[in-house]
Amino acid sequence: MKRALLGLGAAFALIAATQASSDSAVVHTLMKDVVAPQADRLWDVGNRGMNDNGEPDGSNLSAQDWEKLADAAGQMKAAATSMATAKEIIAAPPGITIGEEGTPGAATAQQIQQFIAKDPEGFAKHAAELADISEVYIQAAAGRDAVKLQDAAGRMDAVCEACHMQFWYPEQ
Ligand code: HEC
Repeated sequence: MKRALLGLGAAFALIAATQASSDSAVVHTLMKDVVAPQADRLWDVGNRGMNDNGEPDGSNLSAQDWEKLADAAGQMKAAATSMATAKEIIAAPPGITIGEEGTPGAATAQQIQQFIAKDPEGFAKHAAELADISEVYIQAAAGRDAVKLQDAAGRMDAVCEACHMQFWYPEQ
């Protein structure tokens, strides 16, 4: 019975971690399960939303592509909003090894936790920028707007990178 209750608690924690305005957000879990895979979907559609000259061109995008875009952006926005608004930011669940630990310049979970503790407003600001760029994608999808899609695609990388530079591998 105790086991079952613990399991339920973990399930709720996971739900909380992916919802907006929750008490805590687990960065590692959100990155691995939501942000990274949804960014791949956004990039995939974004790449196909331009012609051979790299100009915005939605003619190759189907209704399903635009739906995929809206879905991916919606999931990313929820994850970003939860990181921007959570009362507590947790770098990684206990016992988890972060992907690039061991490579030069990449921080351990404990170090990342300290970087965030030093500048929680900065972390929230980067997360809010990710929510903003997700919203541009959502609007692009709603209007089937290839120009807006390229605008978002051209800026997203920098948003990811800026937060990683400060909180993940500041030594590099
Ligand atoms: C608000 C800050 C922030 C933003 C914005 C952000 N990340 Fe992260 N990300 C982190 C931190 C901190 C880590 C390292 C710690 C970890 O894995 O928990 C990380 C880790 C990762 C990882 C490694 C996960 C693993 O397996 O260890 C991937 C992949 C990743 N981010 C992708 C992205 C992508 C793609 C974007 C942009 C679409 C993005 N991140 C935006 C903070 C951010």
